[in-house]
Amino acid sequence: MIAGVPVEITDATLASDVQEGLAHVEERLRESARAYHEVLAVSSIHLMEAGGKRIRPTLVLLAAQFGDPRDPRVVPAAVALELTHLATLYHDDVMDEANVRRGSDSANSRWGNSVAILTGDFLFAKASRILADLGPEAVRIQAETFTRLVTGQIAETVGSRPGQDPLDHYLGVISDKTASLLATSGHFGALFSGAPDAVIERITPACAAWGVAFQLSDDILDIASESSQSGKTPGTDLREGVRTLPMLHALRSAGPGDERLVELLSLPDLSDPDLHAEALKLLRAHPAMETARADARRWAELARTEIQGLPEVPARTAFEALCEFVVERTG
Ligand code: IPE
Ligand code: IPE
Ligand code: MG
Ligand code: MG
Repeated sequence: MIAGVPVEITDATLASDVQEGLAHVEERLRESARAYHEVLAVSSIHLMEAGGKRIRPTLVLLAAQFGDPRDPRVVPAAVALELTHLATLYHDDVMDEANVRRGSDSANSRWGNSVAILTGDFLFAKASRILADLGPEAVRIQAETFTRLVTGQIAETVGSRPGQDPLDHYLGVISDKTASLLATSGHFGALFSGAPDAVIERITPACAAWGVAFQLSDDILDIASESSQSGKTPGTDLREGVRTLPMLHALRSAGPGDERLVELLSLPDLSDPDLHAEALKLLRAHPAMETARADARRWAELARTEIQGLPEVPARTAFEALCEFVVERTG
């Protein structure tokens, strides 16, 4: 088990390196939540304490194994990316009107949208402050990543353009909103540990493909899993009218017997609890779920193929284990 990721690291040195690195990350995360204003101090530590898998810092630390994992730039890079991620969660829950995050009240549900938005901004500022010490290259990569992240969120909000294939649109959205930051996690770990360029050039696309698989499984779990497993409310995408892969497959393959599901998915609003529950039940039982799982497996395989081109160090095995985890995860 690595922090919140149920993946076994068999190599003892690697396991202790990663645990130690994550402990430093945790310390610095909490330092970053210090604020002069008491509301900001409480709201910014709220989601850190609520839980979270710390996947981005874990990827940074694993990628740093291909260089010098003790390079002093590695932990700050990991902290900056987790802060960026955390900030996007505060904002995402406002956009998705989500009440539960990491098994706790979302910030917007506890303190309202203004506090949630400002807390996200505060955490972005803290991430930028750390990145400034890592130099202009770090700031540049982060800015480009963040541009993609926001582009993905806005494309999801606005929906596909007339004539655009909804599946292409969806893949573009998840690649921008989620895979970009996961790719940067691998990139930062390799870069700031001084790993060779050849490693950076493999690990970045590997983490990008892994990131697509990760968001695909998040979208499958949004339909399939219960709050107790995911720490979020099931069916949030359905309620918000965000058409994710299982819904797109269901619509595309709709045959006789799917009329009711198609009708429900085509409604402008699924906020009525009975209609929402009915759509969720039909979708859970639909073969489109299995088609979406097969897609997630394909992206994980793509990541694995890239990873197999990396030098054979214990971290490579851990990355391979992450490729299993991403398609099997339940939370
Ligand atoms: C949630 O990310 C948002 C997505 C990009 C799918 P995580 O699943 O990594 O969330 P935490 O950090 O573990 O809460
Ligand atoms: C997460 O998108 C992407 C970002 C936070 C940028 P989702 O809305 O699908 O994530 P969850 O399911 O709320 O974690
Ligand atoms: Mg959301
Ligand atoms: Mg969202």
